Amino acid sequence: MSHSFRSLVVKKDNDRFDISIEDRKIDDLPDGDLLIRVEYSSLNYKDALSASGAKGVTKDYPHTPGIDAAGIVEESKDKEFPVGSTVIVTGFDLGMNTSGGFSEYIRVPSQWAIKCPDGLSTKESMMIGTAGLTAGLAVASMENKCDLKGTKTIVSGATGGVGSIGVNLLSHLGSEVTAITGKMDEKGLLMELGASEVIDRNKFVESTRAPLNRGMYNAALDVVGGPILSSIIASMHYGGVITTCGNVGGPNFETTVFPFILRANSLIGIDSAGCPIEDRKIIWEHFSSDWELNGLEKMSKTVELENMIPEIQKILKGKQIGHVLLKL
Ligand SMILES: NC(=O)c1ccc[n+]([C@@H]2O[C@H](COP(=O)([O-])OP(=O)(O)OC[C@H]3O[C@@H](n4cnc5c(N)ncnc54)[C@H](OP(=O)(O)O)[C@@H]3O)[C@@H](O)[C@H]2O)c1
Repeated sequence: MSHSFRSLVVKKDNDRFDISIEDRKIDDLPDGDLLIRVEYSSLNYKDALSASGAKGVTKDYPHTPGIDAAGIVEESKDKEFPVGSTVIVTGFDLGMNTSGGFSEYIRVPSQWAIKCPDGLSTKESMMIGTAGLTAGLAVASMENKCDLKGTKTIVSGATGGVGSIGVNLLSHLGSEVTAITGKMDEKGLLMELGASEVIDRNKFVESTRAPLNRGMYNAALDVVGGPILSSIIASMHYGGVITTCGNVGGPNFETTVFPFILRANSLIGIDSAGCPIEDRKIIWEHFSSDWELNGLEKMSKTVELENMIPEIQKILKGKQIGHVLLKL
């Protein structure tokens, strides 16, 4: 197949990174077992880092970001994924150094793909995307340690992609959720997603005595890192589970051994990009069944390729609310 298709392309010009929408050829895509016509992608913080040349994300430019894609297989060398099947690809190297989902086509190894579960369309799967997969992996780690029903949980970066799905999912599972946010004017949205309490992030940090505060929460989903993570660790009940997946507020945090040796707390790292495909399948199956969320539409804003550039700039500034769904 040699026809052309449209992609968002980032080009490097000395220290400047320019974004444009360009026509590309299928033959220019990397090798792989599956050629996929992308129907939907979604915007993640990592895509904005790739699109702005942040160190450690993408090495070579010109490049098409997009760590998420869902669509229809058009060419296949793997009988597990026949032509016409609908698939989800998230993480691995997609959108990092492999041409990504902000494009009408991708070509990837079949080991990166998951069949879209029954009951989940390509659109719904990308309303969830890497953000939802990450929140889901965090929640699954919490569930390994405790039954979430009736527990008190805390979610930081609550209006963002990972955080908003985290709030919705934890509330769906019967937990009483405290949302930490820098956008108190979005309190109404967070309550609609299921938060029972919304706290301004600066007030949360100022009111916390580290390294050990009063124990208030059984489980935590932190996307922010920095002083917020230090404050969360200080505020866990005995046996609390803290999951950490992001660093929008900084990579360093302060704590001591005391929350761990006096309160038996656990700190669990979450990585959606490299996690085994079998673990991902479990999370996607949950989202298509017992984790069917009522807040996905509320949290998603649909845009087309031409309108992605301002959305990329907005997520870099921490100003996104919910999740941007890209329709190809
Ligand atoms: N480990 C993994 O597998 C994985 C997967 C996906 C994402 N991540 C990471 O998780 C983080 C969030 O990703 P995302 O896609 O959800 O991004 P996002 O949509 O931009 O959400 C991040 C949210 O964090 C809050 N925030 C932003 N800047 C902040 C700052 N300087 N200090 C404190 N809070 C700040 C904002 O929410 P409020 O205004 O509500 O506070 C923002 O909406 C990123 O670091 C990303 O790289 C990791």
